Amino acid sequence: MNVLGIESSCDETAASVVYQGTQVLSNIISTQIDLHAPFGGVVPEIACRSHLSNMVPVVHECLEQANLTFKEIDLISVTRGPGLLGALLIGTSFAHSLALAQNIPIIGVNHLEAHLCSGRMEDASLSFPFIGLIISGGHTFIVQAKDLGKYQILGRTVDDAVGEAFDKVSSMLGLGYPGGPAIQKAAEAGRTNAFHFPRPMQYASNLDVSFSGLKTAVLYQIKEIQKEGVTLPIADIAASFQQAVIDLLNFKVLKAMEQTQVHQLVIGGGVAANQPLRDALAESCQKKRYRLFLPKKSFCTDNAAMIASLGYYRYTNGLENNPSVKAVDRWSIEDL
Ligand code: KG4
Ligand code: ZN
Repeated sequence: MNVLGIESSCDETAASVVYQGTQVLSNIISTQIDLHAPFGGVVPEIACRSHLSNMVPVVHECLEQANLTFKEIDLISVTRGPGLLGALLIGTSFAHSLALAQNIPIIGVNHLEAHLCSGRMEDASLSFPFIGLIISGGHTFIVQAKDLGKYQILGRTVDDAVGEAFDKVSSMLGLGYPGGPAIQKAAEAGRTNAFHFPRPMQYASNLDVSFSGLKTAVLYQIKEIQKEGVTLPIADIAASFQQAVIDLLNFKVLKAMEQTQVHQLVIGGGVAANQPLRDALAESCQKKRYRLFLPKKSFCTDNAAMIASLGYYRYTNGLENNPSVKAVDRWSIEDL
């Protein structure tokens, strides 16, 4: 079964064809980073206009790369939410029109569930149950995946999403947007122990995390250094901040696996592309003999291959929960 995935929930217009849920035949992503960078974050109006003009060429290029025609597409899978409502409406409206015109079945999927299940594209042996760590620009949570469509959130951020913290600290350091890759790069030349930033809520009894206090601690540190009139040690601050995030996530996710006795971990979302975090989780899991599923970096950041893959599994398992495929800006992974 060839599934055409369509993604437009934030600042990437993406289309992909995936065969039988795991074989990626094409994967096209038109990113809007350059358009939003001057504003330091995603501007919804700009995102919508860009999705409108990019959607048709992206889908055409995607079919061309897969060497397929619309007649050979068996299912369209589109992101229903969560995300920017205007942006989602463009993807869902386009997908609907295409489905009607070409008489192809359509399914709407949850973007966060797609991040969670993207580990399967890397390794089809991923089976339930597993623990998921979803870390993106808008979301941060630890989830117990019991079965396809059955998820329980074990812990979440009580304030900022981790990607948001990367973006804000990057902006404080003048490193630009998106902050995650910029911080990672700057941190390569820095010392992780140059500053001791807090790991908020590390020892709280639950599995929640917090990043607002960490971000503020970085801000105060920057202000203090600036007051002294010395050059800002950007690499050291970036490395120390990144280490604080890694330590906190690593600690909490291991605790989740110990508490639940579920010893498989999948990570997803843009921040899961962070190499030092991937290395730290790999080392922890290896020590404990836990299985770790690391999706390719290009499948961690927003993409349509994960949307197509999830659409395949939901459709073939009869989990077509909303034939109207209505766009929704807020949609918890617990309410599928
Ligand atoms: O999943 P995603 O592409 O979009 C959302 O659904 O939010 O995640 C985007 C977030 C941004 O905050 C970006 O700074 C972060 O992922 N990110 C990273 C890295 N690459 C992207 N954070 C840390 N390290 C990276 N290498
Ligand atoms: Zn995402």
